[in-house]
Amino acid sequence: MAPTDVRSLVIPKSSMSSGQVSWRSPSNIALVKYWGKFGNQYPRNPSVSFTLSAAYTETTIQYKPREDYKKKLSISFQFDGRSMPTFEQRIEQYLIGLISQFNFLEQFDLDIQTRNSFPHSSGIASSASGMSALALCLCSIEDHFFQTLQEDQAFRTKASMTARLGSGSACRSIYAHAALWGETGAVDGASNEYAVSLESMLHPSFVAYQDAILLVSREEKSVSSSAGHGLMDHHPFASVRYEQANRNLQSALECLQHGDLERFVLLCEQEAMQLHALMMSSSPYYLLIKPNTLAIIQAVQSYRNETGIPICFTLDAGPNVHLLYPKENKDAVENFINDKLVNYCHQGAWIKDEMGLGPLQSL
Ligand code: DP6
Repeated sequence: MAPTDVRSLVIPKSSMSSGQVSWRSPSNIALVKYWGKFGNQYPRNPSVSFTLSAAYTETTIQYKPREDYKKKLSISFQFDGRSMPTFEQRIEQYLIGLISQFNFLEQFDLDIQTRNSFPHSSGIASSASGMSALALCLCSIEDHFFQTLQEDQAFRTKASMTARLGSGSACRSIYAHAALWGETGAVDGASNEYAVSLESMLHPSFVAYQDAILLVSREEKSVSSSAGHGLMDHHPFASVRYEQANRNLQSALECLQHGDLERFVLLCEQEAMQLHALMMSSSPYYLLIKPNTLAIIQAVQSYRNETGIPICFTLDAGPNVHLLYPKENKDAVENFINDKLVNYCHQGAWIKDEMGLGPLQSL
């Protein structure tokens, strides 16, 4: 990407105007996990994810020329139409950190309205969809005033880089279908700074791949992702993990390219188990899976053995289970979930999701 001259992103007084911008950005589910980071939100190993569809955040920023310069930034923030001081503080810190790249942030009163398609207390991480939606809005404002991001690739690259600074996994949500983030020789243009699209290399077997998100618990996470990443710094298995993540990444890319579902299933499950094994063996250790998480895992393994359907599970940093399976098995798997697995879900709740087309700008 051509470097942007950051000093030029101050809007001349004569060009200042009010306006509004909105983006809907989806969540994503990692197959090879990002776990461990360094420096300014750089990943210790490359990761790969599927972009989702039904689980998304919608964010609108209204901006108007600022009159009062008492504070560094002037923002108001509402989540679902209500103020949320903890979110607001995080967003404010994030935006303050971005002023050197988006100088115009200081020139406006910003009113940020955001909502998720999934309930806040569902245990689904909202940072990937939330931070990517916000980053996309900032890039649209930049492009409106400076026309610096007219090309789709330049726009997405900057949006992905900006999203990464808010939450690492958010940088992958910028692309349709599937994305890779982190340095690796395996994919041209791969970078620690931003994610790249894997759309062009996906085998047709993965198109419209399904993701059923089984909500085992709706409790807030007991350990934030950032704290979890931090525990990798002195983890006894860290270097072995990063080597293995790189090998798994290579393997995942081969599966995605050749449509090797059998190997894909084993790989996804191994990655999920390893993520939680790392948490359970850190100091201090912590345990995020619940008895019902394990009950689902065992039921899924038996179902796969009985039916031959290439369904597999993966996990985020929490107890909820993502079931991944081909679209052609949708009906059979949904029956299985409704017959057997809803019993293990909190109040029977689960979300039907699938690979999606990436963020959408609303006019
Ligand atoms: C387990 O992106 O939430 O979901 O960069 O600190 O915001 P921060 O962490 P975050 O970590 C996600 C971890 C994961 C795996 C993944 O999505 O790759």
